[in-house]
Amino acid sequence: MSQGIPEETIDEIRQHTDLVALVGEYLKLERRGKNMVGLCPFHNEKTPSFTVSPEKQLYHCFGCGASGNVFSLIMQMEKLTFPEAAKFLARRAGVKIPEQQAARPERDQLKENIYKLNLMAARYYAYHLSKTASGKKALDYLLKRGITEKTIELFMLGYAPAEWTGFFNFAKKKGATPDLMVKAGLVSPGREKGYYDRFRSRIIFPIFNINGKVTGFGGRAFDDEKNSGPKYLNSPETAVFSKGNMLYGLNFARGEIRKSKKAVVMEGYTDVISAYQAGIKNVVASLGTALTTEQSKLLRNQSDIVITAYDSDSAGEAATWRGLVVLQSTGCLVHVAELPQGSDPDSLIREKGADLFKSLLENAVPLIEYRLQRLKERYDLNTDNGRVKYIEELMPFLVAAVNQVEQDYYLKKAAEELGVEEAALRNELKKQIRRGSKYRGERKKDSSDEVETIAISPAEKILISLMLQSKEIAEQGRNDIKPDYIKGSPVKIIFDEIWNLYDSGGVVTAEKLLNRFEDDNLVRLVSMVVTDPALQDLQPRVAKRMAEDSIEYLRRLWSARQQRELKKKIKELEDRGLNDEIENLLREHQDLLTNKDGSPYRSGKGGDFNG
Ligand code: GTP
Ligand code: MN
Repeated sequence: MSQGIPEETIDEIRQHTDLVALVGEYLKLERRGKNMVGLCPFHNEKTPSFTVSPEKQLYHCFGCGASGNVFSLIMQMEKLTFPEAAKFLARRAGVKIPEQQAARPERDQLKENIYKLNLMAARYYAYHLSKTASGKKALDYLLKRGITEKTIELFMLGYAPAEWTGFFNFAKKKGATPDLMVKAGLVSPGREKGYYDRFRSRIIFPIFNINGKVTGFGGRAFDDEKNSGPKYLNSPETAVFSKGNMLYGLNFARGEIRKSKKAVVMEGYTDVISAYQAGIKNVVASLGTALTTEQSKLLRNQSDIVITAYDSDSAGEAATWRGLVVLQSTGCLVHVAELPQGSDPDSLIREKGADLFKSLLENAVPLIEYRLQRLKERYDLNTDNGRVKYIEELMPFLVAAVNQVEQDYYLKKAAEELGVEEAALRNELKKQIRRGSKYRGERKKDSSDEVETIAISPAEKILISLMLQSKEIAEQGRNDIKPDYIKGSPVKIIFDEIWNLYDSGGVVTAEKLLNRFEDDNLVRLVSMVVTDPALQDLQPRVAKRMAEDSIEYLRRLWSARQQRELKKKIKELEDRGLNDEIENLLREHQDLLTNKDGSPYRSGKGGDFNG
């Protein structure tokens, strides 16, 4: 069941959504035979391998293996769950989803209720900022900082009055339960009795998710007399808010990011707001923490290059660096914009103008280049200790290089700085990679600059990833995949290790699998496959079907190979006039020959992209 959405409605949405038109909203497609092709939105490539079958309403990328239908496309492009994607498409197609309150799982219902309450709260705070005497001081503060009324309205900025139960009483009158208010993180239970507002006497920044729903809030103290707590207070983690999964401003910035293929990451709310107001609209904030993998994936899905514009004082911190390596490892090209000492994007734009800030963005340098410069300043390369530190701190960055070319380039450069043989440094790097640097992630694959030494088909990649994620799929794989289906021995080894892991009991993780390999190429292959965002967070139903289709695909390839072999043998026997033997051979391989269709995927289940 599709979590509350009836199957008929899902079908209706499918019927009213044309995959070609939908894909066309994200990328340019060209006709090629029966299919349409374009540059894959899920990996970096220069020649189109993303194929859409208008007839089957399915897509498949021959480069990275991403595949699916209108729903999975939206799930992957917009980072949505299945029900969310269905709603997204329903709205687009003008299909009504029947309200099914009772059928909805409790957790979904809770989320809906929190979103509703959050919106109510955002309006309450906005009202207090613009329309009340008590909000005047806050409004003046914002205006004095150069934030215009129009911007205030767009970002829905607000003011939480200096009252203990202002919002609580308001929401209660509107029918919200205290329990829901607590779950939304808007009020806290008092120590003895009653409830009190979390946000008091603060300027409020609603935090939106990618679809513009209010997931949480940031509150900034501005009136020193009335405030003693932290400068910024965020919503706690709730069913809809998790700081590490969000990027502030992404809902506003995504259009521009997608167009320019560039995103700028900053630290604070006010940085994003200032830049946006100044016309630099591809900006988001990571909300004061180092970038997480989740946030990196959000960015990677929208842009090729990410420019970081962090306050100069925080740019030196270890956590910040780690975040940048994570970002690069997910496959973004990371460039670092260097800001003058003591400034942040907001203060810079206000004091020096948007043009200067833009030029800093344009002059941003590649992450590893920037790292090399900083390390050279920091350590004395004439001492052993300095050199050891230099190498130690550089390695994670080299491991996370975007591609082989970049890695080689900087390896050479570092070797020159140190006055050592390049080979020595390369050995060190190899050791680091084998040891399983925690920074390792997937690089955006570009067939033109990444040498892939192991031949592996998309179907095999899909199976590796899915078998790791689901025991059920692994079992099905073990039953249905005949050893002959797999041509390359590395893939056989990987499959076997996955099954061995399940046999050995305990939780099966990609990490554990990686630990079983010594070979660099295997490690690289597996880590690339298991981090493919197109294969994460799939609905069990979708995953199961993808796995079945992949197995079927392998079987078809095998069967086509067998048929070719058989025909060759028959021809040989014919040439030698051994007609009896041909009879025998044919009887033996009856089923192989009746199964003539050598094309991948069963019709109606997967996509036939051979035509
Ligand atoms: P202004 O000082 O108003 O210009 O805000 P800012 O956004 O420049 O703040 P700052 O550079 O001090 O901090 C950057 C970001 O880190 C903020 O936007 C917050 O997201 C976060 N942050 C800063 N201080 C705190 C704090 O005390 N608590 C929490 N949770 N986050 C903070
Ligand atoms: Mn600031």
